[in-house]
Amino acid sequence: MTSVNDIRSSFLGYFEKNGHEQVASSPLVPRNDPTLMFTNAGMVQFKNVFTGVEKRDYVRATTSQKCVRAGGKHNDLDNVGFTARHHTFFEMLGNFSFGDYFKEHAIELAWNLLTKEWGLPKAKLTATIYQDDDEAFELWKKIAGLPEDRIVRLGAKSNFWQMGDTGPCGPCSEIFYDHGEKYWGGPPGSPEEDGDRFVEIWNLVFMQYEQFADGSRTKLPKPSVDTGSGLERVAAVMQGTNNNYEIDLFRSLVGSTMQATGFNGDPTTPSLRVISDHVRAMSFLIAEGVLPSNEGRGYVLRRIMRRAMRHATLLGAT
Ligand code: SER
Repeated sequence: MTSVNDIRSSFLGYFEKNGHEQVASSPLVPRNDPTLMFTNAGMVQFKNVFTGVEKRDYVRATTSQKCVRAGGKHNDLDNVGFTARHHTFFEMLGNFSFGDYFKEHAIELAWNLLTKEWGLPKAKLTATIYQDDDEAFELWKKIAGLPEDRIVRLGAKSNFWQMGDTGPCGPCSEIFYDHGEKYWGGPPGSPEEDGDRFVEIWNLVFMQYEQFADGSRTKLPKPSVDTGSGLERVAAVMQGTNNNYEIDLFRSLVGSTMQATGFNGDPTTPSLRVISDHVRAMSFLIAEGVLPSNEGRGYVLRRIMRRAMRHATLLGAT
């Protein structure tokens, strides 16, 4: 079985081989960024590099970024434990170009990793693009040979990415994996898109603009690339399950949760998944100095802890 650790190394190694600097994950509490509660994507540490305010000595980077999406613009808290693929804490694999390559090479790099290095069948993959992005449409046809009905045009809600109310942003193109007919769900853009059959595994953002608080938007100095791929979702694909809670990492956490709570029933019980997820978020947040409190980040942590404890009570742990 390809473990979570193998997948992370293989991703970072592939991009390093393709000229990217391996950069460490930044902290969950963003430094010098009052607009964000938590780091919610790999691009957060590079925000000023995209806008040209900060220069680094590399123009391509790759990371596995610690992310929390609970509270703020990207908030998954209430879904966690009850869907196959939402987390409060997760790792986002990404590759970034700061004014170096753009759409074509971004699509090429992602496609080759998925289908050549990792051997995922082309027939299982569908791409979405921003509605007006004819260039991306042509590139998916040319590079991946995807048939036109598997390149889906969608609106800004799903295919224009913004980190928050301000900051770098742009149209995006998402790659979906089809877990097969045995699961309910339809392709992106269909009425059944929220099912567990078609799962987004990678988002390629073509960073072109900077959004300001007054609603205005300017062009970035150079078009850039920001991609994000959920490590836990990719692990599910590579480990032959459609459920993140069944990957190696979560099997261990669910096992420990059963031991700690004394619950010996069905290991797919949502409360076990809620606790396994929340324990990760709590541990990483506390390790960074966030403490439960009545406001701001501390309040989000407190809500996560309270939700985990409530589910422990539901399992009979006192
Ligand atoms: N920023 C984009 C996302 O979070 C791609 O990394 O989906």
